[in-house]
Amino acid sequence: MRRKRVLVTGCAGFIGSSLCERLLREGIEVYGIDMFVPNYDRWIKERNLSSLLLHPQFHFFESDLRHLSFSELLLRVDEVFHQAALPGVRTSWGGQFQQYVDHNILVTQALLEAAKNSNVQKIVYASSSSVYGGMEGPTDETRPPHPISPYGVTKLSAEQLCQLYAKVFGVPVVSLRYFTVFGPRQRPDMAIHKFIKQILTGNPIQIYGDGEQSRDFTFVDDAVTANLLAAASPSAGEVFNIGGISRLTVNELISLIEKHAGKRAHLQTLPEQPGDPKHTFADITKAKTTLGYNPQFDVERGVHLQIEQVRSLYNL
Ligand code: NAD
Ligand code: UGA
Repeated sequence: MRRKRVLVTGCAGFIGSSLCERLLREGIEVYGIDMFVPNYDRWIKERNLSSLLLHPQFHFFESDLRHLSFSELLLRVDEVFHQAALPGVRTSWGGQFQQYVDHNILVTQALLEAAKNSNVQKIVYASSSSVYGGMEGPTDETRPPHPISPYGVTKLSAEQLCQLYAKVFGVPVVSLRYFTVFGPRQRPDMAIHKFIKQILTGNPIQIYGDGEQSRDFTFVDDAVTANLLAAASPSAGEVFNIGGISRLTVNELISLIEKHAGKRAHLQTLPEQPGDPKHTFADITKAKTTLGYNPQFDVERGVHLQIEQVRSLYNL
């Protein structure tokens, strides 16, 4: 029987590279595309890719999806995991927005157009909790989206395009709304990565607002598992919340990192940032019952693993 072949866009990124490793472990042949968008240092993305590049079933293409013809590529693969995007919430205001539109909306539309005339069996789209805006309590997929950042607007537009192409053309696409993913390789602009580095190097942590904002933190291995489950499920045109086990405030998170790093943080308070929801809180009942998703890693366990990785990344 022929080995399954998949395409992972954004394969040098945090979630994309972790997903590629799992797919290869499952015996799947992986085509990976990334253009090393300078949202953070290229050497970090190259490091994410380093072990993948040694694997005989991994084929890497350094290429810009904004200018790629997907049609030919889709002939080679059975499934697509579309992770590529410009991801930051707080950086999506102002002049950067055009980039967000191009990378997040237009690339997704081009992929869906090509998929319409292909034999691809499943596309899994990396959506975001930012499509909701703020949340007061457990929030399920029936809650109408109300993004409060330009980034959230682009992720929602792309997600709605996925639903449209599923409905009108039968494109078998599923969207996963990840909630603040963390763990080894987390992007250097994200809170846990920044806080660990700042605590270990003795530099001040910048807290946006009073630190009482909370996040539903999802460990990267759980997000990766959700992708495999979504690819295997018969669902199409659906969206699923992919949250974790633990919800913490930023203040609680800093205490936890201090405990595991064995060092105290120096704190600096900055104003709340536009676009940041106060709380996120995933109701994952739908992913549990439909996909069999069952997150395994709490923040305590995940932060411990991430501290080790950040130490190694910066030789700390
Ligand atoms: P990341 O920046 O680490 O990875 C994204 C990768 O996509 C990067 O390596 C980038 O170079 C690549 N890329 C972007 N545009 C491209 C293009 N036009 N051509 C080729 N490559 C391109 O980000 P991440 O945190 O791993 O996020 C992955 C996906 O998950 C994104 O779609 C993001 O919106 C979504 N998401 C992430 C989180 C999170 O907490 N990390 C939460 C919700 C949703
Ligand atoms: C994360 C990802 O960065 C987005 O790509 C993703 O779409 C989003 O999750 C999501 O769930 O959809 P965010 O929740 O802002 O966005 O993740 P972090 O950057 O890790 O921030 C977590 C919290 O820490 C936020 O409340 C933020 O205000 C706070 N923070 C962050 C600080 O107080 N200081 C910092 O230096 C960084």
